[in-house]
Amino acid sequence: MAIREIRKDGDEILHKKCREVEVIDEKIKELGQDMLDTMYKYDGIGLAASQVGMLKRIIVYDISYIEEDGKKEGHILINPKITSRSKNMIEVEEGCLSYPDIYENVLRHEKVTVEYTDINGKRKKIYAKDIEAVVLQHEIDHLDGIVFLDRLSEQK
Ligand code: NI
Repeated sequence: MAIREIRKDGDEILHKKCREVEVIDEKIKELGQDMLDTMYKYDGIGLAASQVGMLKRIIVYDISYIEEDGKKEGHILINPKITSRSKNMIEVEEGCLSYPDIYENVLRHEKVTVEYTDINGKRKKIYAKDIEAVVLQHEIDHLDGIVFLDRLSEQK
């Protein structure tokens, strides 16, 4: 387990596009686990690889805090892609570990379908709604160099 340094506001890497992961080797598995550990350490619910300085299409998230039992359920998604989006939008207040102390309402699709490769190389699908859908959209945006504050100007 290793905690990685989180890149913050002003770091150019946050605005760069991440590259597809071609081979899931030990380094990629370690990066995924470190990202989860880093996210938990700073009480985040999602993190993208560019936020720890790696331009790779990997995100992690865990929204189990909203469940009663509070059991951790960390997900590592490699090469995630949104394959469908609901027409219906929801507005939720978002924050980001790279922008501490900034919280803004962002419009997101209420439901999304995300395809990804898991840590064992298996292609999988998630049908997400509400908070899970919001987190996935926020993190996948990071992989394209888009941060939540970029979405604000679009809305106005
Ligand atoms: Ni973020």
